[in-house]
Order: sequence, then C-alpha cells, then structure tokens
Amino acid sequence: MFHDQLAIVATDVAAHLDRVLASYPDQKVVSAMRYAVAGGKRLRAFLVIEGATLFDVPAERALNAAAAVEALHSYSLIHDDLPCMDDDDLRRGLPTVHVKWDQATAVLAGDALQTLCFALLADPATHPDGAVRADLVASMALAAGAKGMVYGQALDIAAETAAAPLTLEEITALQAGKTGALIRWSAEAGARLAGADIAPLGAYADALGLAFQIADDILDVEGDATKAGKRLNKDAEAGKATFVSLLGLDQAKARAQDLVEQACAALDSYGEGAENLRQAARFVISREM
Ligand code: IPE
Ligand code: IPE
Ligand code: MG
Ligand code: MG
Ligand code: MG
Repeated sequence: MFHDQLAIVATDVAAHLDRVLASYPDQKVVSAMRYAVAGGKRLRAFLVIEGATLFDVPAERALNAAAAVEALHSYSLIHDDLPCMDDDDLRRGLPTVHVKWDQATAVLAGDALQTLCFALLADPATHPDGAVRADLVASMALAAGAKGMVYGQALDIAAETAAAPLTLEEITALQAGKTGALIRWSAEAGARLAGADIAPLGAYADALGLAFQIADDILDVEGDATKAGKRLNKDAEAGKATFVSLLGLDQAKARAQDLVEQACAALDSYGEGAENLRQAARFVISREM
C-alpha cells in the first residue's frame, strides 16, 4: 500500500511540476531547475498528500503544496552539493547541477526553486481561503529559514571545524533543523489545508525526521552508492556531526528504531486511516536510497 501510494505521488508531483515549469523561459537556469526537481523519493510530497487524505482533502487539492515542498527541498540539495558546502558531484544518480552546468547556474536554479515553492503556496489553486495560503507560506518560511533548514545546514557546516565534537543535544538540534523542519512542514501541511489540529502530525514528524536523518547518516557509512545515487563514505572525512559519529552504528540504529516506534505511536488517535504514514515511518529506516 505505502509503496504503491509513494509511486503514485511521485508520478503526480513530477507531472505537476512539469506543467508548472512548461510556461517558464527557455533558459539554462530553467533547464537546471527541471533537472534538479526531477527524481528523488518524493517522501515530503507523500507526507503532504497522505496527511491531507487523513482529513479527507483529495490528493488533487494537496498537489500544489506537495510540489511546493519538493521544489524547496530540491533547492536545498542543489546548494548542499555546491563546492562551498558538501562538494558533491553526484545526486539522484546524475551529475550535480554545478557539475552539469556551473556554480552560478546552480545558485540561481536553487534560488528560483525556492521562490517557486512560495509562488505555488500563494497560488489560489492551493486553497480557496487566503488565510490558509498565508498560513502555509508563513510556516514554510519559518521551516526553510534560519530557524529551520538553513539553521541546521549552518550548524552542519560549522560542526566540520568545531574544536570539540558536538553533544547529543547539539546534533539533535542540528538534524531537527536541516532535515526535520521540512519533514515537519510536510506532515503538518494536510492538517493546515483541512483546518485541523497539526499537533499529532507534528509529533509524528519530529520523530520521523530524526529517524530519517539518522538513516541517511547510516547509509553514508554502509549504504550502496549505486542504489543511493550519491557519493557515500564522506561524512566522517568531512568531520560531519552525526548520530553515527557520536554513538556508533549499533546505537544509532537502535535510536532510529525507537524513533520510528515513537512516530507510529503519535498517530494512535487516527487508527487505520494512518496506516500508510506508519509504513512510511518504517520505510525511512529500511530504505537503501
Ligand atoms: C536527502 O533527502 C537530503 C537529506 C535531508 C538527508 P532525500 O533522501 O529525501 O532525497 P531525495 O529527494 O529522495 O533525493
Ligand atoms: C542535506 O543533508 C540536508 C539538506 C539539503 C537540507 P546531507 O548533506 O546529509 O544530505 P546528502 O547526504 O548530501 O543527501
Ligand atoms: Mg550537507
Ligand atoms: Mg550533502
Ligand atoms: Mg547525508
């Protein structure tokens, strides 16, 4: 069920982003945007659509919000791969944007994917009520910015040259920002669209986001680069602060497993309707990409 649903979301969101970008100028930067927003697991889009489904919001009505978060996420990956950040040459099995084109194009394509996210959220097709759209825009601005994703990315880069290893609390804050904030926004978006309580999905997402990043850090150590579609075995050399660097593989895996159970428990009040979201939580720590 979960895997079928993830595949449907991936197809629908890709088609939607294609339609949106079809009206954009025939420019190198737009080609780079299309390239960067293609592919990926589409987990964030899945969370938006599955969260919306929980409150009987049809998938079509959540598609703009789902595409929006994937645009923002793709921007974060383009910039994450730049030489001044993680300096990676492979993403989703293909050359990174600055390798395929150049750094200026990569910076600009990232910038434009970020503004595309906000254009989509502000689009009346996202929700007829302007107050709901404003809520989606404002919450995304917080999640993506210097209290959220950018904050985590800044801590991640700073940790590379920190005098002492980060503590568990510091790594948790780093990961809650760099990965957790967007995952949380994604899981809460359906409730925002429906005017429902965001708290249970927020609690689910906090545990899920952390488990997701721990799994990413584990993949870096023992994953298969061909399946992952990106270079692995880079975090330790770069001096990244991760749960694996602090706790070692076994404890990091145990922590991720605990977090998945926590994520599932947060959905208890939704019963059977949340089964796909529970399966998503199990998937994030068993995935190979
Ligand atoms: C990769 O995110 C970056 C992290 C936050 C760890 P994903 O693993 O969701 O990347 P795609 O979108 O599936 O390529
Ligand atoms: C990237 O984290 C997080 C964001 C882009 C916000 P990582 O640097 O660990 O992601 P990968 O391993 O390059 O996909
Ligand atoms: Mg990084
Ligand atoms: Mg990286
Ligand atoms: Mg990583």
